[in-house]
Amino acid sequence: MIVGTVKEIKTHEYRVGLTPANVKVYTSRGHRVLVQQGAGMGSGYTDAEYKAAGASVVANAASVYGEAEMIIKVKEPVVGDLELLRKDQILMTYLHLAADLDLTETLLERGVKAVAYETIETADHRLPCLTPMSEIAGRLAVQEGAKYLEKAFGGRGLLLGGVPGVSRGHVVILGGGVVGLNAAKIASGIGASVTVLDIDASRLAYFDDVFGSRINTLYSNEANLEEVLKGADVLIGAVLIPGESAPKILRREHLKSMRPGSVFVDVAIDQGGCSETSHPTSQDDPTYVEEGVVHYCVTNMPGSVPFTSTVALTSATLKYGLTIADEGLESSVRRSPELAKGLNLYRGDTVHQGVAKSLGLYYKPFL
Ligand SMILES: NC(=O)c1ccc[n+]([C@@H]2O[C@H](COP(=O)([O-])OP(=O)(O)OC[C@H]3O[C@@H](n4cnc5c(N)ncnc54)[C@H](O)[C@@H]3O)[C@@H](O)[C@H]2O)c1
Repeated sequence: MIVGTVKEIKTHEYRVGLTPANVKVYTSRGHRVLVQQGAGMGSGYTDAEYKAAGASVVANAASVYGEAEMIIKVKEPVVGDLELLRKDQILMTYLHLAADLDLTETLLERGVKAVAYETIETADHRLPCLTPMSEIAGRLAVQEGAKYLEKAFGGRGLLLGGVPGVSRGHVVILGGGVVGLNAAKIASGIGASVTVLDIDASRLAYFDDVFGSRINTLYSNEANLEEVLKGADVLIGAVLIPGESAPKILRREHLKSMRPGSVFVDVAIDQGGCSETSHPTSQDDPTYVEEGVVHYCVTNMPGSVPFTSTVALTSATLKYGLTIADEGLESSVRRSPELAKGLNLYRGDTVHQGVAKSLGLYYKPFL
């Protein structure tokens, strides 16, 4: 198969879909790999390294889109990519379609076969291609929360870890999945007090086993939310219903009840956000203030640490891309239930039930 990767053009996105090491694996199995000039620079990979790995380095994105049968990217295609996508081309990337009707309609019109990393799901309900980015975003969430608590960044001027004789800050994490777990590790590590809320009792039990008395766990319900938000310094939104838009569990009144200058990091913003006050921001201008609370709603948080993120991402996605390249999309989707869950759009049809449900589109099963 001819496989291609392009330079990401979303604001401050420095990750790349294939590393030179990945290219070597594809070419050693007889596939041809096209890489747009400069595609890996933001993650520290030079064109010479791609060439040495066996890739053809081409001058622009149009040459990659024009020839490749499968495009392996990181983020959703934006203007500059969209018009270059061809009918029947396989697009493998993060798509988060459940929160983006316009993008979904454009991709349906273009007739692409779209595989979304974030909905590839194992039999035991793990999301192997979302997990590494969630690990990074969870860790970053605390880092960003601590930064925006500083006075100069609009926060109330509080050190999360406190100092002897002065109270530590309180980090509240909504959703105890991968983002939540990683946020909890860093927050408790820097000495903050931490509360995690989830609707899944087994997740709360897991946190209790791992952290013991170092953190509090609470069922996610209205009464607990109202109580805990009053004392939150950093609130982290980390909920997910796979393939669907994020549940809007926070209302304006919830944010109003928080102390002025506290920080809300809505990591779930890539799925539409879990608060009615959330709207997407970019690394260029990451925050805004609503109800006195600094909102940080960057949709591609791991993009800011590409040296870490590209390796973590491509280590997870490589095996799925290779399967498609080796066997073809249709037969690999028929054989692998994991990949089947990843297929969102197929030649003008919405073939993922969660995406169709979230966007009110007709669902046509692929299998
Ligand atoms: N902004 C970014 O750059 C970025 C990067 C990575 C991941 N994400 C997003 O972060 C979110 C979380 O990802 P994850 O990998 O941790 O998901 P996950 O599936 O591991 O965890 C989600 C958790 O949310 C819980 N949950 C669902 N509804 C809830 C509710 N009403 N109240 C409390 N908990 C609830 C689930 O039980 C689950 O434990 C996703 O939307 C993901 O796309 C964003």
